Amino acid sequence: MIFEQLSAGGCKSYLVGCADTSAAALIDPEIGLIDRYLGLASRHGLRIRYLVDTHTHADHFSATRGLARQLGAPVAMHRMSPAPFVDLRLDDGDMLLVGKLRLQVLHTPGHTRDSMCLRIEDRICTGDTLLIGGTGRTDLPSGDPDALHDSLFNHLLKLDPALLVFPSHDYKGRSHSTIGEEIATNQRLQVHDRAQFCEMMRNLNLSMPSHLTEALRSNMNGAKTVAQMLAEAAAAVPFMSLTELNTRVGSCPTELIILDVREREAYEEGHIAGAKLLPRGQLELRVNQDLPDPTRRIVVCCEFGRISTLATATLRELGFQRAVALDGGMKAWREAAYPLKAGREP
Ligand SMILES: [Fe+2]
Repeated sequence: MIFEQLSAGGCKSYLVGCADTSAAALIDPEIGLIDRYLGLASRHGLRIRYLVDTHTHADHFSATRGLARQLGAPVAMHRMSPAPFVDLRLDDGDMLLVGKLRLQVLHTPGHTRDSMCLRIEDRICTGDTLLIGGTGRTDLPSGDPDALHDSLFNHLLKLDPALLVFPSHDYKGRSHSTIGEEIATNQRLQVHDRAQFCEMMRNLNLSMPSHLTEALRSNMNGAKTVAQMLAEAAAAVPFMSLTELNTRVGSCPTELIILDVREREAYEEGHIAGAKLLPRGQLELRVNQDLPDPTRRIVVCCEFGRISTLATATLRELGFQRAVALDGGMKAWREAAYPLKAGREP
């Protein structure tokens, strides 16, 4: 078996491959690591056959859907998953065949209703049901302390104590433990009594994960994240550096249209000399009238360099094939002490 654990900000994902057949499954992938998964799979000569999420994640953005499209492989989740794009809905006791490997599904609700663990030979990927020295929280959507107690004490902890535990989270850089070690040392598992366990879980008072609503929106509906929209736009447009723009403004000011897409107030407080004001919100409405020549070179700027990237991508789609985005925004321009003009548009 080829088994790779990847970590990003406390989230763990797993590439599990069959060395004999080169088939693989990717468990709990996140969008920030897509290139690494693909690179790792090709380094091992693996073909990813399944994209698996152990549950609906509330704290990171799942890459299953995006990779499934790219690789032509199905997204597999427990049948209780609310995501409409799940291709393969799994039930307790089901198995996925990954070459000669068997990935066995254990439905372990509690952290979420759709939580499952995957047992693979001598190890088990426990998702957020059982963590090293902890358990998944039960205060996020569809969490249930009572169900978690049942999943842990009546199912997971009854498995072979030697079974290796690979969780989907660890914030202390640990890689794995065993069922036996968790039974012996995991503080939460010392509270056997159901009522006391539920009481403890209800009173953890954890702060909400950052990006909670965006993660759920993305993971449940397959929606794009803001970061993805920006990354896609950034990949579709060229950029111009602040230094380059400053030189060009000085030497040949009429050759280039500097398009400032901020609001009027920000523009009038300070803009690049000669810049044209066209707020992002009015871009499509005013583009025909304000930018009649699609062959002109246009450099787009905004406050932080992100909205300008989206606006440039829109301009390129609209046929302005020489539109470029400023690499950095007016904030960086001011910090670099490049010249500014205040007041209305000329
Ligand atoms: Fe989770």
